Amino acid sequence: MDRLHTKQLDIAYEERTIVEDLNITIPSGKITALVGANGSGKSTILKTMARIMKPKKGGVFLDGQSIHRQSTKEVAKQLAILPQNPTAPEGLTVSELVSYGRFPHQKGFGLLSKEDKDIVRWAVDVTGMVEFAERPVDQLSGGQRQRAWISMALAQMTDLLFLDEPTTFLDMAHQLEVLNLLRKLNEQEKRTIVMVVHDLNHATQYAHHMVAIKQGKVICEGSPDHVMTQDMLRQVFGIEADILPDPRTGVPLCFPFGLAGGHAAQSVVSSLQERSGRKLAAGEASREGALASSAAGR
Ligand SMILES: Nc1ncnc2c1ncn2[C@@H]1O[C@H](COP(=O)(O)OP(=O)(O)OP(=O)(O)O)[C@@H](O)[C@H]1O
Ligand SMILES: [Mg+2]
Repeated sequence: MDRLHTKQLDIAYEERTIVEDLNITIPSGKITALVGANGSGKSTILKTMARIMKPKKGGVFLDGQSIHRQSTKEVAKQLAILPQNPTAPEGLTVSELVSYGRFPHQKGFGLLSKEDKDIVRWAVDVTGMVEFAERPVDQLSGGQRQRAWISMALAQMTDLLFLDEPTTFLDMAHQLEVLNLLRKLNEQEKRTIVMVVHDLNHATQYAHHMVAIKQGKVICEGSPDHVMTQDMLRQVFGIEADILPDPRTGVPLCFPFGLAGGHAAQSVVSSLQERSGRKLAAGEASREGALASSAAGR
């Protein structure tokens, strides 16, 4: 059964309504990617689903209960969130930050149990932060800091894990490490993960479910095959792109080539298909596409 859904959710910043009548269900035990242009409302939706923001109308329901009627601690035992731009108090070390993740589980006076300490060590280790454990968070690079925050969210040991742009600031290897870790947590521990990502190819490669947002509304949702279409890319992002299957897994990957509505170059795949008078197979299309794009100097 799906544990989390929103019902007729309106969200506003003071008088400005950003999201209206939002009804989404987060599939349990799956990875969901929220995608959309800058300012479309992704962070606002994620924060409201994680109880950081209060809705103007409607609600967010976890196991049938409104999360806004529950205490922070109750919700934090079930759901952890990595916000988009978190800030740590000056001088706080990585291991201190990560141990904050154990707060919802602590009884008494905030002393860490042996189990808490083991979990903190595990969370610091899986994000590759052992060597930085005693360094102040505000003296780390952007990517190191991002991984420290991911560690903290992991240390909360919740079934639901929300991450707002977890791969921003990370180099390519660390992006893959974080995404692979999320996949492992999902596959081995059946954790439900919701992440905001800008790299649409990461979304289709790692998520089972995608939700495309524009101006606070869901434009389409479903499997990556269903969501990653030229129409969606035009409507949601205003771009023209070729979509080709990943030669390894078959999931759709997009290769943008222009802005929608402008004098966009014609899709390489369709022009190649027109020229050859036949539909190209996936492997051929990706090879030809790669050749054409390198020739175009992309
Ligand atoms: N604290 C705030 N007060 C007022 N308006 C805000 C606030 N935070 C965000 N907004 C506005 O709400 C809208 C949605 O912002 P949000 O941060 O949810 O977008 P986003 O999809 O996460 O964008 P990005 O991809 O740039 O992170 C934007 O128009 C933004 O300007
Ligand atoms: Mg955002």
